[in-house]
Amino acid sequence: MKKVLLLLGSFALACSLMFAAAHAEHAYEAVGGLHGIMEYGVKAPNDKLGAMRKAGGPKSEGDWKSSEHAAVMIGESMNLALMGGRVKDDVWKENAMTSLAGAKALVAASKGMDAAAWNASLGKMGQGCRGCHKVHRPRKKGGKGGKGGKGA
Ligand code: HEC
Repeated sequence: MKKVLLLLGSFALACSLMFAAAHAEHAYEAVGGLHGIMEYGVKAPNDKLGAMRKAGGPKSEGDWKSSEHAAVMIGESMNLALMGGRVKDDVWKENAMTSLAGAKALVAASKGMDAAAWNASLGKMGQGCRGCHKVHRPRKKGGKGGKGGKGA
């Protein structure tokens, strides 16, 4: 009887392990380089936020929602900049983390429709963009380069 119970017990354990494995985190697989992430994951939402700032900040409920979503995309893109073997050095890591923290704060500020927090977190996010670009963004011929988008 004891043996049967033991057997049943290990069977249950094996089942739960298999279940856990089936729901384990997906192992990240890089698809491409940072250029695409910047161009399509960061530029469009950052332009949107820049336009809102120019207009004096988000006004309608729709503005706050799209600000939240733009910040989500930028924040998640910063996660990608920190994954897949993309990190080049401490400047890279620190600034991507600054923009990530800024984006997270921007999500919270947008959810709370808090204008002062919105401005502060946009500033923090931009600080990371500039810090990394200064070192890692290739300079354009003849131009100064390294500036990033609006608010960047
Ligand atoms: C970890 C470093 C890093 C951070 C942080 C970073 N960037 Fe970049 N960014 C780059 C690099 C490197 C390139 C150049 C990519 C290439 O051309 O290969 C770039 C390119 C760009 C481009 C140009 C894309 C194009 O069309 O060529 C834009 C726009 C941009 N970044 C916006 C931003 C904004 C906005 C932020 C902050 C929210 C930001 N970046 C944060 C490293 C970073």
